[in-house]
Amino acid sequence: MNPQEIISKHEPTQDNLLNILHDLQNHHSESYIPAEFMDLVSDYLNMTKSAVYGVVDYYSMLSVKPRGRYIIRVCISPVCHIKNAPGIMDVLSKQLDIRVGETTTDKLFTLEGAECLGQCQEAPAMMINEKVYNNLTQKRIEKIIASYQ
Ligand code: FES
Repeated sequence: MNPQEIISKHEPTQDNLLNILHDLQNHHSESYIPAEFMDLVSDYLNMTKSAVYGVVDYYSMLSVKPRGRYIIRVCISPVCHIKNAPGIMDVLSKQLDIRVGETTTDKLFTLEGAECLGQCQEAPAMMINEKVYNNLTQKRIEKIIASYQ
């Protein structure tokens, strides 16, 4: 499905902006929204390009940069922070040899921080694409990442 077909599945109302952007990103092989897609959305919804770009920039779930097949989002909110989220981030960073915001050279993983994932009782937590992992330890992370490689 090309970007225009994806956009056209939605009614051309500005209330659909986020749905369209998520749909475009989910269909992109590198999980991001290129500038030319944002231009198409701007024309379709009769919005300024800067308004569309602003929304993409504001929402951390949306990206303007190509990302890996698996997007790892480590919760960096207070409860996880207290329960060693920074240490979890370090383990992932070392294991994947990338920093936060970067993608591995094989384009398999992108490492990001995220707001609370609703797993505070079992912190620290992270998501890989849509799957949630909690009660993270270094050993557990190594196994989880290996299962994606
Ligand atoms: S603070 Fe991390 S899941 Fe809620």
